[in-house]
Amino acid sequence: MRKTDISKRQKYDFLVIGSGMAGLSFALKAAEHGSVCIITKKGLTESITGYAQGGISSVTYHPDNFEKHIKDTLNAGSGLCNPEVVKKIVTKAPEQIEQLLKWGTNFDKTTDGKFDLHREGGHSEHRILHHKDNTGFEIQRALSTAAKSHKNITILEHHFAVEIITQHHLGETVNKWRKDIECYGAYVLNRNTNSVETILARVTMMATGGVGAIYQTTTNPAIATGDGVAMIYRAKGAIENMEFIQFHPTSLYNPQERPSFLITEAMRGFGGILRKKDGQTFMHKYDQRENLAPRDIVARAIDNELKATGDDYVFLDVSHKKTEDLKTNFPNIYNKCISLGIDISKEMIPVVPAAHYSCGGIKVDINSRTSISRLYAAGECSSTGMHGANRLASNSLLESIVFANIAANDAIQNLKNYHFCDKIPEWNDEGTSQPEEMVLITQCKKELEQIMSYYVGIVRSNIRLKRAVDRLEIIYHETEELYQKSVVSQQLCELRNAIQTGYLIIKMARNRKESRGLHYNMDYPIQIKV
Ligand code: FAD
Ligand code: SIN
Repeated sequence: MRKTDISKRQKYDFLVIGSGMAGLSFALKAAEHGSVCIITKKGLTESITGYAQGGISSVTYHPDNFEKHIKDTLNAGSGLCNPEVVKKIVTKAPEQIEQLLKWGTNFDKTTDGKFDLHREGGHSEHRILHHKDNTGFEIQRALSTAAKSHKNITILEHHFAVEIITQHHLGETVNKWRKDIECYGAYVLNRNTNSVETILARVTMMATGGVGAIYQTTTNPAIATGDGVAMIYRAKGAIENMEFIQFHPTSLYNPQERPSFLITEAMRGFGGILRKKDGQTFMHKYDQRENLAPRDIVARAIDNELKATGDDYVFLDVSHKKTEDLKTNFPNIYNKCISLGIDISKEMIPVVPAAHYSCGGIKVDINSRTSISRLYAAGECSSTGMHGANRLASNSLLESIVFANIAANDAIQNLKNYHFCDKIPEWNDEGTSQPEEMVLITQCKKELEQIMSYYVGIVRSNIRLKRAVDRLEIIYHETEELYQKSVVSQQLCELRNAIQTGYLIIKMARNRKESRGLHYNMDYPIQIKV
């Protein structure tokens, strides 16, 4: 049996779990007021943030205004957005764009020195600031560089958060009715030494990103296994709106590739047209905004066309645009397609929908506080009320930075009230051994992806959801049994987290007896629009 190493106990004012846009921007603010430790399960720059293409929405120039951005966001959210949150995020956007510029992010400008603004589905104006077609990479670069050079920030790469620490670890009963649950830090698997370390903190920020990796076809990198959501669920914190999984309409059809390469929505804003294999357009049958309808509508339309024709993909056509314009605005996509033998200035791009974004997550209030004291959440793992039943394109990076900033301000103000809890025991792995059969883990992961993709995808039904929960229960019990007797490993923890996240998606989908936004259930065919 492996012993835990007591000398590895560390203490910081702020513990940040995750190094994407939410985690890094929180850390940079908090570090002005105390010591910060960022843990991240792979390298510093491996995050969903780094994959973002289209950009970040912010009202910048006339004729755009806050009212229009608020209205577009509320329209997409189908009546489930929190209007107070939407207003707060939209109106704070310009100051957070300023902050990103100060941290060294570059956004594209036109020849007259103004920001070059793109437009995407559901937006009534051009308001997407971007860096070519790899905005996320640029943001991740800038924030990672700033964090690395900050004297108050310690970065622990290849450190995997296993559980947050609460009164449960002091031997107390913690259940969902308890109102005074507190977070004292986290148990963290150091992948370099394979030991579980105790990191104590006065404040913890959960910024673990999305859940897309639990589906077969996804734009999300492999890190997106819902760890934060599952950890907080196990700690009896509040989770909401998990049924609203956004499928991006246009990922590149290339079945061998995982994650699926995204073809940004900005391409449709730029004049791209969806067509069937025979060249016919079809979006006019589904929505008067045609190619620029919100993504839930476009993804369902494509799904419907694929089922009707039996084809594996539809096409996005930008071959009518100038080659130079395509190369300048979308160099990443242009080169990717060329590498696969597709010249997008002459040929159409084969595309399919892919699991892309989780609108729900760890429930937070207007100050980014979770239901667990001393624990904040921001970014994709959180549910702020911004997106409701469907997220508007490019509103996610914006929500991440605005709420990370709100959380940092609140945490800094309250830091004096939060003290280290020194009674926390070390991680106990007595009676466990190395799991010998890796195939049990890898096969279970595949089964989970199949269950989620076949039964909990773009179109759902009561019988599909029932089948999903029945199948999931089998792998849930098998995995729990394996977990109880195994030494902690990242693969097993990720599988466990992914199954619990899948369970929450199915449970909340079954509880929603209607079709709304991203949750479409054939048994309730009338789509609620508010
Ligand atoms: P992430 O950037 O995913 O960061 C999560 C971090 O947590 C990672 O560092 C991860 O390693 C770490 N982590 C996770 N679990 C653990 C654990 N157990 N222990 C330790 N560390 C852990 N949104 C937009 O607004 N505009 C766009 O143009 C856009 N384009 C997109 C394109 C693609 C292909 C994808 C997939 C998404 C896109 N999105 C876009 C969505 C947006 O990028 C994400 O929602 C956002 O970047 C999430 O940021 P985050 O900080 O919450 O999470
Ligand atoms: C895209 O570029 O189409 C993705 C934008 C987003 O997910 O917000």
